[in-house]
Amino acid sequence: MPELIGKPLDRIDGRLKVTGGAPYAYEHQVPNAVYATLIVSSIAKGRIVSMETRRAERTPSVLLVMTHLNAPKLPQLEGQPKKPPTGRVVQVLQDEVVRYANQPIGLVVAESLEAAIEAAHLVEVKYAAEQPELELESRLSQAAAPQKVGGAQDPSATHRGDMQAGMAEADARIEHVYSTPFEVHNPMEPHATIAVWDAPDHLTLYDATQGVFTDRARVAQLLGLQAENVHVISPYLGGGFGSKGPVWSHVILAAMAAKQVNRPVKLAVTRPQMFGMLGFRSQTRQAMAAGAKRDGTLTALSHDTVCHTSTFDEFVESASLPSRMLYATPNNSTSHKLIRSDIGTPSFMRAPGESVGTYGLEAAMDELAYELKMDPLELRLKNYAETDPEKNLPWSSKSLRECYRMGAERFGWSKRSPEPRSMRRGNALVGWGMATSEYPTRRSPSNASARLNADGTFSVDAGTQDLGTGTYTIMTQIAADSFGVAANRVKFRLGDTLLPQTPVSGGSQTAASTGSAVYLAAQALREKLIQTAISDARSPLSGESAQDVALENGRLFSRKDPSKGETFQALLARGGQPYLEAQASAKPGPEKERYSMYAFGAQFVEVHVDADLGQIKVARMVGCFGAGRILNAKTARSQLMGGMVWGISLALYEEAHTDYRLGRWVNNNLAEYHVPTNADVGQIEVLWVDEKDDHINPLGAKGIGEIGITGAGAAIANAVFHATGKRVRDLPITLDKVIA
Ligand code: MOS
Repeated sequence: MPELIGKPLDRIDGRLKVTGGAPYAYEHQVPNAVYATLIVSSIAKGRIVSMETRRAERTPSVLLVMTHLNAPKLPQLEGQPKKPPTGRVVQVLQDEVVRYANQPIGLVVAESLEAAIEAAHLVEVKYAAEQPELELESRLSQAAAPQKVGGAQDPSATHRGDMQAGMAEADARIEHVYSTPFEVHNPMEPHATIAVWDAPDHLTLYDATQGVFTDRARVAQLLGLQAENVHVISPYLGGGFGSKGPVWSHVILAAMAAKQVNRPVKLAVTRPQMFGMLGFRSQTRQAMAAGAKRDGTLTALSHDTVCHTSTFDEFVESASLPSRMLYATPNNSTSHKLIRSDIGTPSFMRAPGESVGTYGLEAAMDELAYELKMDPLELRLKNYAETDPEKNLPWSSKSLRECYRMGAERFGWSKRSPEPRSMRRGNALVGWGMATSEYPTRRSPSNASARLNADGTFSVDAGTQDLGTGTYTIMTQIAADSFGVAANRVKFRLGDTLLPQTPVSGGSQTAASTGSAVYLAAQALREKLIQTAISDARSPLSGESAQDVALENGRLFSRKDPSKGETFQALLARGGQPYLEAQASAKPGPEKERYSMYAFGAQFVEVHVDADLGQIKVARMVGCFGAGRILNAKTARSQLMGGMVWGISLALYEEAHTDYRLGRWVNNNLAEYHVPTNADVGQIEVLWVDEKDDHINPLGAKGIGEIGITGAGAAIANAVFHATGKRVRDLPITLDKVIA
């Protein structure tokens, strides 16, 4: 049996999805369910003076109009939230205060969705509005260090060496500010929940969540329930990108409403409501300084980020992190500061910190390369970090040099003419740019179980999630490999708190965490099958040594004499057992103290910029990554490519506009919130280095959900400079900025 791990297996769930057989949260069939719709604030700051709900309540089939005036009080809200990464402060109608635009201020429940929407429009709200503040640049004096760790990693300021002395001894220096806009995750499936009270103290949630167990814990905490009495089900997700990591207000509101009306309540967030109450990426202002000797050796590098948080909670878009570890510079400092603004709380969005942080760092490195009249790739190689310069640890593995080499070769980088505006094709200015990618390799404790059934098939369970990324498929591959069977002999279940406990699918950690647990559970079951056979006098394998027994094509047999063996069914039938089962836990060990663990990559981009109109087209991208063991060549390519496409979005399109006077989201729809469509995406090539890493986890996989977007924005921005000679330091790079 050829090894399945790594093979480009088609998605296990693909057929179900294209035939409509895969239920998303809102689509679960729940008898007797009623429909809820949210009412959200039209101001960004102030108080609700009155809410006139009588007309709404008189609308036929309306069961409940819930506002802060009649909502049940949730005493557990005090002291929230315990765990910032997955529990954000929620707004669940506990007071009359409006803290941001699109804050939930009411909820209508009716027998039909149409009636609920109609009634919601009939609620009249009077506000005492105040002037919201959410501009960054004009309020920099208010920026303050974070109080608690609410971002992806520790955002505390770091210093090594002497930054000033390093700048002083440099032959070339750059100091620039780079900025990135508000960006809002817009997964195809907006957030949705069905809340069902099976008993007065038992809640079932069909929820669109990236973490069924973290969801359970936070919901139980807020509603004052035992965690065992909350059952979260989430078998399919239409994307998440971080937005479905924390529990947001609407989940709690649906549960509160379901209790009030004593019926299951279905609640879907509308596309316009996706802007503001469910997290988003904060604007960043990144001040970069760098200095280098004439030969390119970095003498100093600093990265200071200012971003927003809300007035009531804290989250750090930790953009300065890449500058700590990517280059071997003796003098280095990084910091993050927050400005409290009248917005919902920003949150994790694909490669939080690293996506926009690699833009600041890698655009600055590009500028430094031009100062030095040095090839941008040469400058990176000159300062290649052989060990982690911040943690002073060896890398668990690092294939970045190989990524640079493979990517550059595939792209044809050596044919680049260094001068800006020196390459043309017809009326298009042609630009080539490159940048480095990196993303930390994370891991959390996870569990899984594996079972051999009487019919010779296997069932493998882990509570985890599939965001649309391929979890079903890779877990099936991992397990099937251990049993020596085809993928269709293994049924993998996920997305349910009744299954073995697993971590949130965030931080690119599902393959590393739950993949390792599935691997260990499958190996344990394999071991059990072998032991059961060799210790049974009635088995043809009786007395064989364990390492001489192989599993293949549904049977166990002796490697020495393959005719000696038996089928899985025979093994089970003889023992009279309905099944054989094994569990496993996989958790991080001391490797974190011994190694610095990251995935790396290199991205090369060609852009065409219309010489007259400034229109930018990404003609081609080559991304090469070193991300440990690749578990499925097809889903991995899609993941990495998806990240690179989002890099196009980051560099050229995406920006959620706010009105600074009113504090409202201006383009909260997919017509005006621009993301690339097929026509905007040129040729994308995804390569990777076959990287073996024995230190990170039993599977050797680093996770690939996020690294694809890192570096991509900078590579495009750098290509635009090379094409035009114009350096735009404020994303997205739109044509008006190019021709200005
Ligand atoms: Mo991802 S932003 O860590 O879900």
